[in-house]
Amino acid sequence: MSPRKGVQKRVLVTAGPTRERIDPVRYLSNDSSGKMGFAIAAASVAAGHEVVLIAGPVDLETPKGVKRIDVESAREMLAEVRKAFPECDTLFMAAAVCDFRPARRLRGKWRKKDVGQERASLELIPNPDILGAITRRKGDRLVVGFALETSDGLRRAREKLERKRMDYVVLNGPSALNATKTSVKILGRDGSQRDLAGRTKSAVAKVLVGLRAPSKG
Ligand code: CTP
Repeated sequence: MSPRKGVQKRVLVTAGPTRERIDPVRYLSNDSSGKMGFAIAAASVAAGHEVVLIAGPVDLETPKGVKRIDVESAREMLAEVRKAFPECDTLFMAAAVCDFRPARRLRGKWRKKDVGQERASLELIPNPDILGAITRRKGDRLVVGFALETSDGLRRAREKLERKRMDYVVLNGPSALNATKTSVKILGRDGSQRDLAGRTKSAVAKVLVGLRAPSKG
């Protein structure tokens, strides 16, 4: 299938956190606001692309012209990404996916009397690695992932780029979470590095949407 007439590319974006249920009223999640992914979706539409946005629970308006699919957990996000990936030319995996989820989801409320008054523990099991799984059949799609690092960022981000078969990885720090401005390094599979400091997420999104496949090295 090729893009609709007048449309340049089909772009798939994931955004926001995932939410992993403990019981009907509690969950595990993170501070991701979804702003970076939504900015990428908006910039992609502005560039004339057809955009599908798979969003975790966020409080943001859908950019005009974007097809949005809401999900809650990492496993729901994986299912939607699996459906949409074969039809896309470019994937921006900006979601902050929870690496673990509770081993059991309780049907009723988790009560103090059932788990002990002094100390309680929660058993966690790993979530699937969405990007790692989906890029096994990457083809010639352009894949851009993110790496949020607190130390040794360049090395860890490059390791993720290789392991998850990305073309580019966008390295940022925890101060990017929920912020309007951000500082990132864009690392390419071809060894390239581009530093963007103190930019709005819209400005960073515009640069990301303009990325071309790195030359093979
Ligand atoms: N990612 C994913 N599925 C996961 C975890 C992360 O698809 N279960 C994606 C993120 O959307 C991001 C990239 O993988 O584009 C790197 O995410 P990050 O959280 O930095 O890496 P992890 O694999 O979780 O590694 P670690 O927690 O050890 O830093």
